[in-house]
Amino acid sequence: MENLIFDAHCHYDDEKFDDDRDTLLSSLPEKGVFAVVTNGTDIETSRTSLELAEKYPFVYAAVGIHPENAAETDIEKLDDYIEKIAQMLTHEKAVALGETGIDYYWDIPKDAQHIIFDRQLQLASDIKKPIIIHDREAHGDILEYLKKYRPYGLLHCYSGSKEMLSEVFRYGKMWISLGGAVTFKNARVPVEVAKEVPMDKLLLETDAPYLAPVPYRGKRCDSSMISYTAQRIANIRGMSVEDVLKYTKDNACRLYNL
Ligand code: NI
Repeated sequence: MENLIFDAHCHYDDEKFDDDRDTLLSSLPEKGVFAVVTNGTDIETSRTSLELAEKYPFVYAAVGIHPENAAETDIEKLDDYIEKIAQMLTHEKAVALGETGIDYYWDIPKDAQHIIFDRQLQLASDIKKPIIIHDREAHGDILEYLKKYRPYGLLHCYSGSKEMLSEVFRYGKMWISLGGAVTFKNARVPVEVAKEVPMDKLLLETDAPYLAPVPYRGKRCDSSMISYTAQRIANIRGMSVEDVLKYTKDNACRLYNL
């Protein structure tokens, strides 16, 4: 069977892969993986992500500053960082700006988060690259940004309601991705979302090394485990797992211009 797994969002620079990164990445194509987009979370990890993309044909990179790094980001140097991100985005394997967004779960200075996110939205719009957005307990503000910038991109690890979907799709050329959470026993909202989201708007992701699907919940996650997430969504929607994988792979190729 052809490789159908497209992991739209993951972090292979993470230290949890330090012991066996190359062995693991080399094994993914034989486990059904077609492509992965590994995301930087600051300038340094964005560079590492690009290096991984240079090394493996099926690995692509997203480069950007994550809201969890807002406190450590020197705002005085933001112009310089934005310049570096713009420069990295000229690389042929850099397919998106990310991971960026807003996070109100952790106690991170809000002003800094907003300044950094806003600048990255501007940049993505200026250079016409897709943007990968993290929204943790910040739905209202994220929607305001979507209204303001009408971006083209991905709302990753979608955690909003099924009602919020129509707003997300109204205010930009957006897709959403679902990960391991849809397989969790207590998952209610993600299951509703998996049922309601139009099939041409859905991508799959792992956010590896985190959020492994059942039966690997709590373990280190890798892109091959997307088959469990796809199986769960296939059951929810009454589709075949092959169709779920095919649709989501095609959508990811469209989003990332592959
Ligand atoms: Ni992530």
